[in-house]
Amino acid sequence: MDAQIWPSILSADFANLQSDIERVPAADGLHVDVMDYRFVPNLTLGLPVVEAIRRVTTKELDIHLMIDDPDRWAVSYAEAGAESVTFHVEAAGAPVRLARELRKAGARAAIALNPGTAIESYGDLLGEVDMVLLMTVEPGFGGQSFLDLCLPKIARTRELIAKHGGSIRLQVDGGISSTTIERCAEAGADTFVAGSAVFGADDPDAMVTALRNLAR
Ligand code: DX5
Ligand code: ZN
Repeated sequence: MDAQIWPSILSADFANLQSDIERVPAADGLHVDVMDYRFVPNLTLGLPVVEAIRRVTTKELDIHLMIDDPDRWAVSYAEAGAESVTFHVEAAGAPVRLARELRKAGARAAIALNPGTAIESYGDLLGEVDMVLLMTVEPGFGGQSFLDLCLPKIARTRELIAKHGGSIRLQVDGGISSTTIERCAEAGADTFVAGSAVFGADDPDAMVTALRNLAR
């Protein structure tokens, strides 16, 4: 599967979201981090902001829900027009039902795992999802250092996906930059979220292309 780069708008200027979104035309889509002060110790944005972003861009939206009780809230993001909605397995009460509801609402469904959560317990869910997101930092903040301890899990997840035989994407999120992306790609990731590396660059769009070339 070709490498995809999804800039995280968590590192964009929240007062000028539309203009920052327009700075990354080369991106495969936009990664939107929703945090609730409960699942993670940070608060970002919710449905009204996602709806506003939807109105100003045709880019695909990849919603990463770092919230408690995604069973209750996730489907509304699909209904708002997001192409992909990711919920954390640590927070979901009924992940099979939730993934099916997301797909029924027209979105791709994805599960996310924190660095300390093993993938092996979730292999049976692979038939229900379009993507697996492996966090490569503890979730909650942009700009943290990549955790090398996640590399073996990327490789194990790639094996599970291959055994499953599907076309499930393997996304990594946290500390992805020009110094870490090749390690992740070698381990088996094909979909890369980058926040500070992209929006902290002098030329964010050139960084998107550079990261994609490194991942290839
Ligand atoms: C962190 C978020 C990430 C964050 C990544 O919990 O899920 O998407 O924006 O930021 P960087 O790329 O700066 O680590
Ligand atoms: Zn994220």
